[in-house]
Amino acid sequence: MTAYRTLSWQGNALRLLDQRRLPGTLTYVDLTTVEEVAEAIRNMTVRGAPAIGVAAVYGLALATQHIVAIRSSSPLNDLTQAATLLRQARPTAVNLAWAIDRVMRLALASASLPLAEWRDGLLAVAERMAAEDVETNRRIGLNALPLIPQKAVFYHHCNTGALATVDYGTALGVIRTAHEAGRQVFVYVDETRPRLQGARLTAWELQQLGIPFALVVDGASAHIMRTKRVDLVTVGCDRIAANGDVANKVGTFNLALAARAHAIPFYSVGPTSTIDLSTQSGEDIPIEEREAGEITTIEGIPITAPNTPVFNPAFDITPAEYITAIITEIGVVYPPFTANLPWVVHPT
Ligand code: MRU
Repeated sequence: MTAYRTLSWQGNALRLLDQRRLPGTLTYVDLTTVEEVAEAIRNMTVRGAPAIGVAAVYGLALATQHIVAIRSSSPLNDLTQAATLLRQARPTAVNLAWAIDRVMRLALASASLPLAEWRDGLLAVAERMAAEDVETNRRIGLNALPLIPQKAVFYHHCNTGALATVDYGTALGVIRTAHEAGRQVFVYVDETRPRLQGARLTAWELQQLGIPFALVVDGASAHIMRTKRVDLVTVGCDRIAANGDVANKVGTFNLALAARAHAIPFYSVGPTSTIDLSTQSGEDIPIEEREAGEITTIEGIPITAPNTPVFNPAFDITPAEYITAIITEIGVVYPPFTANLPWVVHPT
């Protein structure tokens, strides 16, 4: 287990590691209402597709506590409102909607139970989903192991570690598994503008794990692939469409293009809860646009002229044709993705 905990249930509160303050300060915030959880997802106190899914589920557990306390006359309606609030917090990562839908189905199926029992049941589901996430990530790492050479130089984007999940991580979990299995691992970590998840979070996590790495600027990727040894690119994913197009942190597609130009394998890594077979292609995936201040300031200090116009998409789509394989907890999925993805998605 990792020494720090992205999220955990503490009595009657959801405790989140405040990722906005890393790596300088390791501090936690305790949330007691669903509104606070939705805001924490929006402002990225908690972030990363699997982590926001589980945080939302705990948000629903908090909502049921309130519903029981006020003895609501329409508990299911109130919970549906809470679910809507959470669902709208961030649009791209499908894990959020997937996790909420799963709990809402159970909430509906158990709605005839006495209120306190209903509340306890939903909290138990949240705890189970948190534990499942860790197990899923470990399986992803083990499934990836046969793809990793004895001496492996990775290129990694954004943050997909313990911080982006309940624990262990997805794409960073693959690197971690390889390291733990005795592979000689080195990682190029890009900064991941504008919010610097690579510089602030991934580099910090790799330091804690004792995995050798070098931090590079986003624009250096093609140069590094041309002039240095890079064996594989591993990135996370926020939504995988039925045709294998992948939404992930903006800049992922640039990396895929550079990897293709240098014949370097490009792996998208994530749990099967990230696969959305109801979305036909990347064209149908909503791309979150975030506020200008993420680009025009650093730590609150302006770095551009006042009123600089900004376009700030937080994610991009990597077309399926650039993806060597998708690594999941069920197995490694190769093209053609339209035919092969349904084999790893189990009915929920
Ligand atoms: O905006 P973020 O920090 O939530 O974006 C995170 C990513 O894009 C990750 O790469 C993705 O969620 C996979 S996390 C295991």
